Amino acid sequence: ELSPIDKAKFVAAKRAAAFVEDGMRVGLGTGSTAAWLVQCLGERVHEEGLRIRGVPTSSRTAQLAREVGIQVISLDEAKWLDLTIDGADEFDGDLNLIKGGGGALLQEKIVATASDRMIVIADAAKEVETLGAFPLPIEVIPFGWQTTQALVEETLISMDVLGRSSTLRMNGDVPFITDEGNHILDLHLGRIGNARQLALVLNQMPGCVENGLFIDICDTVVIGFGDGKVELRD
Ligand code: A5P
Repeated sequence: ELSPIDKAKFVAAKRAAAFVEDGMRVGLGTGSTAAWLVQCLGERVHEEGLRIRGVPTSSRTAQLAREVGIQVISLDEAKWLDLTIDGADEFDGDLNLIKGGGGALLQEKIVATASDRMIVIADAAKEVETLGAFPLPIEVIPFGWQTTQALVEETLISMDVLGRSSTLRMNGDVPFITDEGNHILDLHLGRIGNARQLALVLNQMPGCVENGLFIDICDTVVIGFGDGKVELRD
């Protein structure tokens, strides 16, 4: 028996899996909700003989996809994707997102951007009026990361955000390392007044590889509820 939160994630994933059609090249997201999606797609592969090629957004997802019998290819082999389905940490009324809680934002953004359509699967608690309560992850090059951090915090003063402290994401006693060999800074902003502008400004900083703001990338959000209901936004 699933807890209400897992049930919400599962029903959203199950509904989104139904959008996948035979022959599609599908971007596979990262995180606990996306893991349900990979399971659901694996079931369709076995039960219906669904033929898909999956492009995972992390080493974790790649491993899971192989385990459930999904054919895994690289993004460059796929060249372009029909659909990407991924989780998110927050989404707002314009379907803009904060992602990267799982540390895979860089590959996730590359894959989602190379897709005809991006569907986000999320439990209802992730819907917000304004993005920013969830700490915004940015992927930074390890070289000089403290200098990058200082530059980021200084730049945030002039931006429409509430807070500007940031923390280096850790993995126990050592800095977290992404699949691309970088670090993650989590920006504690509280409220992001102008997400579009912030996304642009962050990516202009030397040392900052990518940020977790997904602006105009998501086309549909499938929202799951603890009682098994599902709602679509697009
Ligand atoms: C991974 O890097 C993130 O972007 C995830 O999509 C996000 O953290 C959602 O994860 P959950 O589905 O586990 O909440």
